[in-house]
Amino acid sequence: LDLPETDPFEAARSAAAEIAGITGVPRHDIALTLGSGWARAADLIGETTHTVAAADITGFSAPALAGHAGTLRSILLPGGKRALVIGARTHYYEGHGVRRVVHSVRTAAATGATTMILTNGAGGIRESWTPGTPVLISDHINLTGDSPVEGANFVDLTDLYSTRLRDLARSIDPTLDEGVYCQFRGPHYETPAEVQMAKVIGGQMVGMSTALEAIAARQAGMEVLGFSLITNLAAGIQKTPLSHSEVIEAGALAEPVISALLARIVAAL
Ligand code: 6GU
Repeated sequence: LDLPETDPFEAARSAAAEIAGITGVPRHDIALTLGSGWARAADLIGETTHTVAAADITGFSAPALAGHAGTLRSILLPGGKRALVIGARTHYYEGHGVRRVVHSVRTAAATGATTMILTNGAGGIRESWTPGTPVLISDHINLTGDSPVEGANFVDLTDLYSTRLRDLARSIDPTLDEGVYCQFRGPHYETPAEVQMAKVIGGQMVGMSTALEAIAARQAGMEVLGFSLITNLAAGIQKTPLSHSEVIEAGALAEPVISALLARIVAAL
């Protein structure tokens, strides 16, 4: 994937063929990337029939961070559909390039998935969002300066975060708020001034993932649903310093509730 002459879609097709070979599952319908706080949803949506170490599949790298599972799971949903759960996210801040970041999404599309659910832990800009609040992503602002789309390929991003799927999510939980997610490069958290900038330009959540993946999902023709778990308020909104352990703790606390919510939404797809 790191060589310019490599076709990233070919790599994704190879990865999908390997997954089909190992699992014996010829196609998946839905894919989910489970970020901080969302992982338990994998246990609630259906029966995991196969777990694959992501590092064994073409194009996937070993997980960079403890708490990020590094596995791909094939799950049989009660209605008979198949979900591919990606517990191995490569973040842009790892510096391996945008192709690595979106490889799991392209692989999911190559397995046949037509719905991509992207989740993350994020800093909240709205003060009313206490840690543990799940928020629907209504749109994003990509502040990485990068794109997964290569060449003169002008992909339309209108309704990127599907209105249809957001309406469906709100039919399951009418109290769900929604907001615009700003992807920063990280891995440092934003300065208070950067958080104010994000607010002024229309953002309500700040994080380090998802936007690039959503673009790749749209390019692959998938319908996208996105959720942030507010793990903390963003710098300057929250008066205390931010810490990764705080983010992990908030994720762990909220996990039972938001995972159950996500499972109910998946069941309704
Ligand atoms: Cl405040 N910023 C970013 N970029 N990512 C986060 C976060 C903040 N809180 C959790 N993840």
